[in-house]
Amino acid sequence: MNPIIAPSVLSADLSRLREQVEAALAGGAEWMHVDVMDGHFVPNLTFGAPMIRALRRITDCPIDVHLMVEHPERYIDDYAAAGANLFSFHPEATVHVQRHLAAVRERGMLAGLVLNPSTPLAMIEEVVPDLDLVLVMSVNPGFGGQSYLPGATDKIRRVRALLDARRSPARLEVDGGVTAANIAEVRAAGADTFVAGTAVFGAADVRTAVSELHRLCSARA
Ligand code: DX5
Ligand code: ZN
Repeated sequence: MNPIIAPSVLSADLSRLREQVEAALAGGAEWMHVDVMDGHFVPNLTFGAPMIRALRRITDCPIDVHLMVEHPERYIDDYAAAGANLFSFHPEATVHVQRHLAAVRERGMLAGLVLNPSTPLAMIEEVVPDLDLVLVMSVNPGFGGQSYLPGATDKIRRVRALLDARRSPARLEVDGGVTAANIAEVRAAGADTFVAGTAVFGAADVRTAVSELHRLCSARA
């Protein structure tokens, strides 16, 4: 699967959102990643549907929404209407996970589940056919700018093996501490979609930062 870079707007300078997003897209970013946090599921608060609407006015690219909130199903309709294309949530944040994955698809979005560093693969095994995306957290969610947890690499390999064994076409996305120094390793482990916040928007030149990530994850490890 062709690699996709999904810059996280959590690390963008929001006073220059359009300029920052356009620079990331010019560098070859395919998606924009939006981190929704509720101050309960994770110890931080960010943004919701207004951010998705703002991005939709800036770009036609797929908007990849990562919900770190309790009861994410409450937001499926709103976020679909706001223009979200991918809707991923944590299985610990709700019950009836399968029903909610189906509801996400019914609203025309792609459905994803997110695995925290301590969450076992068993949490997704029963619903593989309902998934368009599996997101492996390589930090504990809540903040940008944390360091990649080395244990994530083996987990990515195991998720890759699970998806392959089930012949699932789901994308395998990695989120947290992805940088130019480790993206080749993450790609080699079997990931195909890379969230990057600090490595993109913390760089002096956003456009070059994205194209460099693309170059590194396309090079043979
Ligand atoms: C962490 C978020 C990430 C974060 C990534 O809770 O889910 O998407 O923005 O930021 P970096 O790339 O700086 O780790
Ligand atoms: Zn995220």
